[in-house]
Amino acid sequence: MTVIVSFGLQKGGVGKTTTTGITAFLLAKTKRVLVVDLDGQGNLTRMLSGQNKNTFENTVYEAIKYRNTENCITVLSEKLHLIPANDDISQISTVLDINSDKRLHVLADILHPVRSYYDYILLDLPPALSEQTLIGLTASDYTVTMLQTEPFAYYALEDYLETCQVVQKKYNPNLKLAGILSVLLNSRSSLDQSILERVRTDYEDIVFESVIKRKSRLKELAITGITDKTKADRQALQEYNDFVQELVERVQEK
Ligand SMILES: Nc1ncnc2c1ncn2[C@@H]1O[C@H](COP(=O)(O)OP(=O)(O)OP(=O)(O)O)[C@@H](O)[C@H]1O
Ligand SMILES: [Mg+2]
Repeated sequence: MTVIVSFGLQKGGVGKTTTTGITAFLLAKTKRVLVVDLDGQGNLTRMLSGQNKNTFENTVYEAIKYRNTENCITVLSEKLHLIPANDDISQISTVLDINSDKRLHVLADILHPVRSYYDYILLDLPPALSEQTLIGLTASDYTVTMLQTEPFAYYALEDYLETCQVVQKKYNPNLKLAGILSVLLNSRSSLDQSILERVRTDYEDIVFESVIKRKSRLKELAITGITDKTKADRQALQEYNDFVQELVERVQEK
Protein backbone atom coordinates (compact mmCIF):
# COMPACT_ATOMS: atom_id res chain seq x y z
CA MET A 1 0.00 0.00 0.00
CA THR A 2 1.23 3.49 -0.82
CA VAL A 3 1.94 5.88 2.03
CA ILE A 4 2.16 9.64 1.44
CA VAL A 5 4.38 11.42 3.97
CA SER A 6 5.03 15.17 4.10
CA PHE A 7 7.88 16.95 5.89
CA GLY A 8 6.88 20.35 7.15
CA LEU A 9 7.30 23.27 9.49
CA GLN A 10 6.73 26.91 8.66
CA LYS A 11 10.10 27.85 10.11
CA GLY A 12 12.91 28.16 7.58
CA GLY A 13 16.14 26.21 7.47
CA VAL A 14 15.28 23.48 9.95
CA GLY A 15 16.24 20.49 7.81
CA LYS A 16 12.95 19.63 6.06
CA THR A 17 14.46 19.37 2.58
CA THR A 18 17.58 17.54 3.75
CA THR A 19 15.40 15.07 5.62
CA THR A 20 13.02 14.54 2.68
CA GLY A 21 15.92 14.02 0.27
CA ILE A 22 17.90 11.62 2.45
CA THR A 23 14.77 9.68 3.45
CA ALA A 24 13.87 9.28 -0.23
CA PHE A 25 17.41 8.15 -1.06
CA LEU A 26 17.43 5.55 1.71
CA LEU A 27 13.92 4.24 1.05
CA ALA A 28 14.60 3.96 -2.68
CA LYS A 29 17.25 1.30 -2.03
CA THR A 30 14.42 -1.20 -1.76
CA LYS A 31 11.12 0.64 -2.32
CA ARG A 32 9.58 2.65 -5.15
CA VAL A 33 9.61 6.29 -4.15
CA LEU A 34 8.16 9.45 -5.70
CA VAL A 35 9.31 12.77 -4.27
CA VAL A 36 7.27 15.91 -4.81
CA ASP A 37 8.99 19.25 -4.32
CA LEU A 38 6.37 21.76 -3.17
CA ASP A 39 8.80 24.60 -2.51
CA GLY A 40 9.60 27.19 -5.18
CA GLN A 41 13.15 27.41 -3.84
CA GLY A 42 13.63 24.06 -5.62
CA ASN A 43 16.26 22.96 -3.11
CA LEU A 44 15.08 19.36 -3.11
CA THR A 45 14.92 19.38 -6.90
CA ARG A 46 18.55 20.47 -6.99
CA MET A 47 19.68 18.12 -4.23
CA LEU A 48 18.22 15.03 -5.88
CA SER A 49 18.66 15.82 -9.58
CA GLY A 50 21.87 17.85 -9.43
CA GLN A 51 20.23 20.30 -11.84
CA ASN A 52 19.12 23.87 -11.51
CA LYS A 53 15.37 24.16 -10.91
CA ASN A 54 15.00 26.37 -14.01
CA THR A 55 16.06 23.54 -16.32
CA PHE A 56 12.76 21.81 -15.62
CA GLU A 57 9.76 22.68 -17.74
CA ASN A 58 7.42 20.12 -16.31
CA THR A 59 7.10 20.86 -12.65
CA VAL A 60 4.49 20.35 -9.97
CA TYR A 61 2.88 23.61 -11.12
CA GLU A 62 2.33 22.19 -14.64
CA ALA A 63 1.11 18.91 -13.14
CA ILE A 64 -1.54 20.84 -11.23
CA LYS A 65 -2.36 23.31 -14.00
CA TYR A 66 -2.90 20.63 -16.65
CA ARG A 67 -3.96 17.88 -14.24
CA ASN A 68 -1.32 15.72 -15.89
CA THR A 69 1.04 14.12 -13.40
CA GLU A 70 2.81 11.52 -15.52
CA ASN A 71 4.23 14.16 -17.85
CA CYS A 72 5.87 15.91 -14.92
CA ILE A 73 7.69 12.95 -13.38
CA THR A 74 11.48 12.96 -13.78
CA VAL A 75 13.02 9.50 -13.43
CA LEU A 76 16.19 9.84 -11.31
CA SER A 77 16.82 6.11 -10.98
CA GLU A 78 14.77 2.97 -11.33
CA LYS A 79 13.16 3.39 -7.92
CA LEU A 80 13.48 7.12 -7.32
CA HIS A 81 11.27 9.55 -9.21
CA LEU A 82 10.80 13.30 -8.76
CA ILE A 83 8.21 15.93 -9.52
CA PRO A 84 10.37 19.08 -9.45
CA ALA A 85 9.48 22.63 -8.46
CA ASN A 86 10.60 26.08 -9.49
CA ASP A 87 9.30 29.63 -9.04
CA ASP A 88 6.20 28.84 -11.14
CA ILE A 89 4.68 27.32 -8.04
CA SER A 90 4.01 30.83 -6.71
CA GLN A 91 1.23 31.08 -9.32
CA ILE A 92 -0.50 28.01 -8.04
CA SER A 93 -3.51 29.87 -6.65
CA THR A 94 -4.31 31.16 -10.15
CA VAL A 95 -5.01 27.62 -11.37
CA LEU A 96 -7.12 26.54 -8.41
CA ASP A 97 -10.86 26.88 -8.42
CA ILE A 98 -11.41 29.42 -5.67
CA ASN A 99 -15.11 28.64 -5.53
CA SER A 100 -14.62 24.98 -4.81
CA ASP A 101 -14.44 23.40 -1.36
CA LYS A 102 -12.22 20.80 -2.95
CA ARG A 103 -9.60 23.33 -4.04
CA LEU A 104 -7.06 22.07 -1.52
CA HIS A 105 -7.51 18.47 -2.69
CA VAL A 106 -5.79 19.24 -5.97
CA LEU A 107 -2.50 17.50 -5.13
CA ALA A 108 -4.27 14.46 -3.70
CA ASP A 109 -6.32 14.32 -6.92
CA ILE A 110 -3.41 14.55 -9.33
CA LEU A 111 -1.38 11.98 -7.37
CA HIS A 112 -4.26 9.54 -7.41
CA PRO A 113 -3.59 8.04 -10.89
CA VAL A 114 0.10 7.35 -10.16
CA ARG A 115 -0.18 6.64 -6.45
CA SER A 116 -0.43 2.86 -6.56
CA TYR A 117 2.81 2.55 -8.56
CA TYR A 118 4.82 3.76 -5.54
CA ASP A 119 5.43 2.44 -2.05
CA TYR A 120 6.12 5.92 -0.70
CA ILE A 121 5.35 9.42 -1.92
CA LEU A 122 7.30 12.07 0.00
CA LEU A 123 6.35 15.75 -0.04
CA ASP A 124 8.78 18.55 0.82
CA LEU A 125 6.75 21.49 2.17
CA PRO A 126 7.85 25.14 2.07
CA PRO A 127 8.67 27.21 5.18
CA ALA A 128 5.24 28.87 5.42
CA LEU A 129 1.71 27.93 6.37
CA SER A 130 0.82 28.73 2.77
CA GLU A 131 -1.53 27.23 0.22
CA GLN A 132 1.23 24.83 -0.87
CA THR A 133 1.52 23.55 2.70
CA LEU A 134 -2.25 23.13 2.99
CA ILE A 135 -2.39 21.30 -0.34
CA GLY A 136 0.47 19.07 0.78
CA LEU A 137 -1.13 18.27 4.13
CA THR A 138 -4.46 17.58 2.44
CA ALA A 139 -2.69 14.98 0.28
CA SER A 140 -0.74 13.38 3.17
CA ASP A 141 -1.43 10.22 5.12
CA TYR A 142 1.30 11.23 7.58
CA THR A 143 3.31 14.31 8.31
CA VAL A 144 6.69 14.59 9.98
CA THR A 145 7.62 17.85 11.62
CA MET A 146 11.00 19.05 12.77
CA LEU A 147 12.25 20.54 15.98
CA GLN A 148 15.52 22.36 15.96
CA THR A 149 16.90 22.74 19.43
CA GLU A 150 16.63 26.47 19.66
CA PRO A 151 14.34 28.54 21.87
CA PHE A 152 11.89 29.83 19.20
CA ALA A 153 11.39 26.44 17.63
CA TYR A 154 8.73 25.53 20.15
CA TYR A 155 6.26 28.17 18.98
CA ALA A 156 6.61 27.13 15.34
CA LEU A 157 5.99 23.52 16.34
CA GLU A 158 2.79 24.40 18.18
CA ASP A 159 1.48 26.41 15.20
CA TYR A 160 2.28 23.62 12.79
CA LEU A 161 0.50 21.01 14.89
CA GLU A 162 -2.51 23.31 15.15
CA THR A 163 -2.58 23.73 11.35
CA CYS A 164 -2.44 19.93 10.97
CA GLN A 165 -5.46 19.62 13.26
CA VAL A 166 -7.41 22.16 11.18
CA VAL A 167 -6.52 20.35 7.94
CA GLN A 168 -7.46 17.03 9.48
CA LYS A 169 -10.83 18.36 10.59
CA LYS A 170 -11.73 20.31 7.47
CA TYR A 171 -10.04 18.61 4.54
CA ASN A 172 -8.29 15.34 5.30
CA PRO A 173 -9.56 13.12 8.14
CA ASN A 174 -6.84 10.66 7.14
CA LEU A 175 -3.97 12.93 8.18
CA LYS A 176 -1.84 11.62 11.05
CA LEU A 177 1.25 12.96 12.75
CA ALA A 178 4.05 10.46 12.19
CA GLY A 179 6.22 12.26 14.72
CA ILE A 180 8.55 15.08 15.63
CA LEU A 181 12.15 14.74 14.45
CA SER A 182 14.72 16.54 16.56
CA VAL A 183 17.60 18.19 14.83
CA LEU A 184 20.32 19.04 17.32
CA LEU A 185 22.09 22.21 16.49
CA ASN A 186 24.93 21.34 18.81
CA SER A 187 25.06 18.01 20.55
CA ARG A 188 27.53 19.32 23.15
CA SER A 189 25.42 22.30 24.18
CA SER A 190 23.54 21.88 27.42
CA LEU A 191 20.83 24.30 26.21
CA ASP A 192 20.21 22.11 23.15
CA GLN A 193 20.04 19.05 25.38
CA SER A 194 17.58 20.72 27.75
CA ILE A 195 15.30 21.81 24.87
CA LEU A 196 15.36 18.23 23.61
CA GLU A 197 14.45 16.96 27.07
CA ARG A 198 11.58 19.43 27.33
CA VAL A 199 10.17 18.30 23.98
CA ARG A 200 10.39 14.70 25.09
CA THR A 201 8.56 15.52 28.31
CA ASP A 202 5.84 17.50 26.55
CA TYR A 203 5.34 15.34 23.47
CA GLU A 204 6.51 11.98 24.87
CA ASP A 205 6.70 9.19 22.32
CA ILE A 206 5.50 11.41 19.47
CA VAL A 207 9.16 12.48 19.34
CA PHE A 208 11.27 10.07 17.30
CA GLU A 209 14.01 8.31 19.29
CA SER A 210 16.44 9.14 16.51
CA VAL A 211 18.07 12.54 16.71
CA ILE A 212 19.85 14.14 13.76
CA LYS A 213 23.03 15.90 14.84
CA ARG A 214 24.62 18.79 13.05
CA LYS A 215 27.28 17.41 10.73
CA SER A 216 29.20 19.25 8.07
CA ARG A 217 29.08 16.20 5.77
CA LEU A 218 25.27 16.39 5.77
CA LYS A 219 25.48 19.99 4.66
CA GLU A 220 27.83 19.04 1.83
CA LEU A 221 25.32 16.53 0.50
CA ALA A 222 23.20 19.45 -0.63
CA ILE A 223 25.97 20.32 -3.07
CA THR A 224 27.43 16.94 -3.96
CA GLY A 225 24.12 15.10 -4.08
CA ILE A 226 23.34 12.25 -1.70
CA THR A 227 25.74 9.31 -1.84
CA ASP A 228 26.82 6.57 0.52
CA LYS A 229 29.89 5.42 -1.37
CA THR A 230 32.49 6.32 1.25
CA LYS A 231 32.71 5.33 4.89
CA ALA A 232 32.38 9.00 5.85
CA ASP A 233 29.11 9.25 3.86
CA ARG A 234 27.73 6.14 5.52
CA GLN A 235 28.65 7.47 8.94
CA ALA A 236 27.00 10.80 8.17
CA LEU A 237 23.82 8.99 7.09
CA GLN A 238 23.69 6.59 10.03
CA GLU A 239 21.29 8.67 12.14
CA TYR A 240 19.02 9.04 9.13
CA ASN A 241 19.08 5.25 8.67
CA ASP A 242 17.77 4.92 12.22
CA PHE A 243 15.13 7.58 11.60
CA VAL A 244 13.91 5.94 8.39
CA GLN A 245 13.59 2.60 10.13
CA GLU A 246 11.52 4.22 12.89
CA LEU A 247 9.41 6.11 10.36
CA VAL A 248 8.65 2.96 8.37
CA GLU A 249 7.60 1.14 11.55
CA ARG A 250 5.33 4.00 12.57
CA VAL A 251 3.56 4.40 9.25
CA GLN A 252 3.03 0.67 8.96
CA GLU A 253 1.65 0.05 12.41
CA LYS A 254 -0.69 3.03 12.73
N1 LIG B 1 22.02 17.74 10.26
C1 LIG B 1 22.55 18.75 9.59
N2 LIG B 1 23.85 19.09 9.79
C2 LIG B 1 24.39 20.13 9.11
N3 LIG B 1 23.76 20.89 8.23
C3 LIG B 1 22.47 20.61 7.99
C4 LIG B 1 21.79 19.53 8.64
N4 LIG B 1 20.50 19.50 8.19
C5 LIG B 1 20.39 20.50 7.30
N5 LIG B 1 21.55 21.17 7.17
C6 LIG B 1 21.82 22.36 6.35
O1 LIG B 1 21.02 23.42 6.87
C7 LIG B 1 20.48 24.21 5.81
C8 LIG B 1 18.96 24.17 5.88
O2 LIG B 1 18.53 22.83 5.66
P1 LIG B 1 17.28 22.48 4.75
O3 LIG B 1 17.34 23.21 3.46
O4 LIG B 1 17.17 21.01 4.72
O5 LIG B 1 16.14 23.09 5.66
P2 LIG B 1 14.66 23.47 5.26
O6 LIG B 1 13.87 23.38 6.53
O7 LIG B 1 14.20 22.65 4.13
O8 LIG B 1 14.81 24.96 4.79
P3 LIG B 1 13.66 25.87 4.10
O9 LIG B 1 12.73 26.18 5.20
O10 LIG B 1 14.40 27.06 3.57
O11 LIG B 1 13.03 25.04 3.02
C9 LIG B 1 21.04 23.62 4.53
O12 LIG B 1 22.19 24.33 4.19
C10 LIG B 1 21.40 22.19 4.91
O13 LIG B 1 22.43 21.67 4.12
MG1 LIG C 1 13.31 23.26 2.31
